[in-house]
Amino acid sequence: MLRLLLLLSAAIALSGADLPWITTNSELDISSCPITYFGQKYERFYVNLTSENVVICFNGYYDPQNKGDCLVGPGAAMIFFLIGIKYSALESLFKERLPTISNSLECYLEIQLSSITVQVADFESQAALYVATSSQGTWHTDVLVDGNKVSTVNLTAAAGSSRTRRFVDLSGCRHSGVLFWPGEVRSDPDTCVSLNCFETEVLQTSTCGPLERCQGNGICSLDTICTVTGPAVIDFHGQQNSVKDRCSYSLLRIPSVPDFQVLANFQERRRKDVSFLDSVTLRLNGSSVHIHLKQGGRVLLDDSALTLNSSVQTVHGVKLSKDQTGVTAKASLSNFKASVYFDGSTGQIHLEGPAGQSLHGLCGNSSTSLSKERLFEDSSTSCNLLKEAPFSSCDIDPEPYITACIDTLCSYSDLDHLRCQFLEAYARACSLKSDTTLQDWRSKADCSRPEAFCQDRTCSDHEFCGEKTAGGETRCFCRAIFASKYRKINSLGDPPVCSQNSASLSLVGCLLEDKGIDYSVLQLKEPTCRGQIDKQTHMNNNSQVLYKNTIMSQNLSSGGITRQDQVYIDFSCIQTQPDIQTVVFRIKSSSVVQVISSGPWRYSLTMKAYTDPSRTQAVDSNTEVRLNQKIWVELDTDGLDEKLVAVVTDSCWATDQASPTGGRKYYLIKNGCPNSEDQTVRVKGNGKGTSNYFSFNMFRFTGSSAELYLHCKLQLCVKQENSCVKNCDGARKRRFARSNYEAAAFISMAWTT
Ligand SMILES: *[C@@H]1O[C@H](CO)[C@@H](O)[C@H](O)[C@H]1NC(C)=O
Ligand SMILES: *[C@@H]1O[C@H](CO)[C@@H](O)[C@H](O)[C@H]1NC(C)=O
Ligand SMILES: *[C@@H]1O[C@H](CO)[C@@H](O)[C@H](O)[C@H]1NC(C)=O
Ligand SMILES: *[C@@H]1O[C@H](CO)[C@@H](O)[C@H](O)[C@H]1NC(C)=O
Ligand SMILES: *[C@@H]1O[C@H](CO)[C@@H](O)[C@H](O)[C@H]1NC(C)=O
Ligand SMILES: *[C@@H]1O[C@H](CO)[C@@H](O)[C@H](O)[C@H]1NC(C)=O
Ligand SMILES: *[C@@H]1O[C@H](CO)[C@@H](O)[C@H](O)[C@H]1NC(C)=O
Repeated sequence: MLRLLLLLSAAIALSGADLPWITTNSELDISSCPITYFGQKYERFYVNLTSENVVICFNGYYDPQNKGDCLVGPGAAMIFFLIGIKYSALESLFKERLPTISNSLECYLEIQLSSITVQVADFESQAALYVATSSQGTWHTDVLVDGNKVSTVNLTAAAGSSRTRRFVDLSGCRHSGVLFWPGEVRSDPDTCVSLNCFETEVLQTSTCGPLERCQGNGICSLDTICTVTGPAVIDFHGQQNSVKDRCSYSLLRIPSVPDFQVLANFQERRRKDVSFLDSVTLRLNGSSVHIHLKQGGRVLLDDSALTLNSSVQTVHGVKLSKDQTGVTAKASLSNFKASVYFDGSTGQIHLEGPAGQSLHGLCGNSSTSLSKERLFEDSSTSCNLLKEAPFSSCDIDPEPYITACIDTLCSYSDLDHLRCQFLEAYARACSLKSDTTLQDWRSKADCSRPEAFCQDRTCSDHEFCGEKTAGGETRCFCRAIFASKYRKINSLGDPPVCSQNSASLSLVGCLLEDKGIDYSVLQLKEPTCRGQIDKQTHMNNNSQVLYKNTIMSQNLSSGGITRQDQVYIDFSCIQTQPDIQTVVFRIKSSSVVQVISSGPWRYSLTMKAYTDPSRTQAVDSNTEVRLNQKIWVELDTDGLDEKLVAVVTDSCWATDQASPTGGRKYYLIKNGCPNSEDQTVRVKGNGKGTSNYFSFNMFRFTGSSAELYLHCKLQLCVKQENSCVKNCDGARKRRFARSNYEAAAFISMAWTT
């Protein structure tokens, strides 16, 4: 039957084969029927024909020096070759004889030597050899792998006997050029690497797990590190994830060691949106004991601080020590050893133990949903209160309220009654929906009845009302976004606004309050210039405190006592030097002379100005007189008898118009005495003789014309003892006898700039 089949298959193959008869050494393409020869797949083969033997090699022409994968059969002058397609009878025949062949037959190669027939069958990752003869004699076929003979097929056919045949499994695996028999397992105890040639002839490698280490005796053990630094968790598998909120997370839980857990607590640093590892907590003995590894190398056992140094201190079985880099806590837990290190910014867990453990927490798998490993220590208690009485009497599902509560508290702080806000909201929803009043939940949850905050003040748009101290007073706080531009540059307000002759500095009230500064005690260098709320801006938008002055600094020490820190806010304006216009006066006529007839007297009166007290430097029309320059004005008479009369200057005044009575008026001398409000005026010799003089500092009328007129009213006084001299001290004001006086004389002098 086989002969028939072979002929049939040969006929099929012949139609596609160009040269079925091979007479010389040849290379043949078998890519349409590749053979996996002991685990090595080949798409060509090479034939060497000698009279001694026929060698068919898959990896190149036969060379005894090379490690050939070859079949060596009896010698022949020519061979017949074909590729046969599969048929089920052939597959059954192979499988019946070779039970280790499990794959299905794909195709086969048939090579007819003069004395034997060889078939190499392709069973995908497996292969099988069939050798048959009906020629009389003994025939050997060697199977070589890497040049080594792995089996010899002996066929002996006696004369007249029927065909004899053998089947050989050509399956196997190779690893680094080494042959593995099907089912063979080899392992290296040093590396714990083991190779297994499975029945499907695929070599499988196994070694220690990713978290494990080979102990050198072929046994793997757990040996792995988890690192938490900043917001990042690099778990035992090397996977990375980042914590986004300010919460506690479980880093490590080992199901078989329930008494041990490591937690990480995250807090913000410079930025609100990035959290950093802030402390590490070891939970022992259920969760009845906590060892907190905190900032600055501080270690707390529950609430009490431990003093650590490089010597190991054992606390609840945990060996604690501290060096200049950080704190290490080592725990031995049944067959595990955990070492937890924390230096204030990085936490590392080194875990050793038996292989094949499932490890929970972010270190076990940081890709698990972060919220699954989140524990908000305080809020999980207080938020979870919603599951308990009296809340449990409400038929509204508390879960979304609990999640919202924990979510919020993990990104915020429990300030401004935030925690209670969620419980309050749930309680309200219950009372609205089912009209159930939850009895006494506030005292259970430690929440006070909500009060209207900041009743006595209205916070501006950039402020919010918050608690100054937990459960205590309230005040307006700066909203974070508004305040950030000031806080970034550590400033309490805007830069000064400078104008020509003033500067104003606006400070932000809520920022001052943050620093505990009361705006009302602020002042500029002049104590009279106090801080004030700018009513307008406060009413409308912001409570900015305005200071207007050109001098900038604060002095808080006035008033005897102070409860404020000393505050110094220097601000300055660059100002351009204002133009100083020098006003120069010129006298219009250097002296004024008037001839006066008064009763019996006829005399001339001269009014003359000088720039020196000895009255030698007369002011003439070329003399420039500056503002504030002292001027001496002499009133001199001629033609009077000094023994009989004295000249009394009753008054002198300045006007900005020529008329002595018109426009603005400023007295230098009044009632014979210098204007007490003008300290620059001096009067000399008034009422003593026939001349007197006065001095004053030059001035001008503000915002007025360039003209300045000096007018004086004089009187003659008939001398009786010293009766004409006026006492200007104000002590004893002697009244003048009117009768002493003659009619008044007026004289004027004009100045112009
Ligand atoms: C096999 O045939 C090749 C090609 O003709 C030849 O180079 C090689 O030497 C032969 N090998 C032997 C052992 O004869
Ligand atoms: C095949 O024949 C060779 C040489 O005669 C002999 O060494 C070998 O043991 C025989 N193999 C078997 C399986 O009989
Ligand atoms: C562990 O907890 C149990 C009960 O919670 C307690 O009795 C025991 O003393 C604790 N052990 C340690 C070492 O704290
Ligand atoms: C560490 O502290 C312990 C007790 O606090 C003390 O007995 C020990 O001497 C200290 N060791 C060193 C190296 O300072
Ligand atoms: C970690 O968990 C994620 C999500 O559940 C999963 O896809 C991943 O395979 C896990 N990684 C490891 C190493 O177990
Ligand atoms: C604040 O109010 C003042 C006065 O109404 C107004 O001039 C100013 O533009 C307002 N500023 C802002 C930032 O709204
Ligand atoms: C602050 O005021 C006190 C008393 O009024 C005064 O002695 C002190 O010089 C002032 N300091 C400054 C910096 O103005």
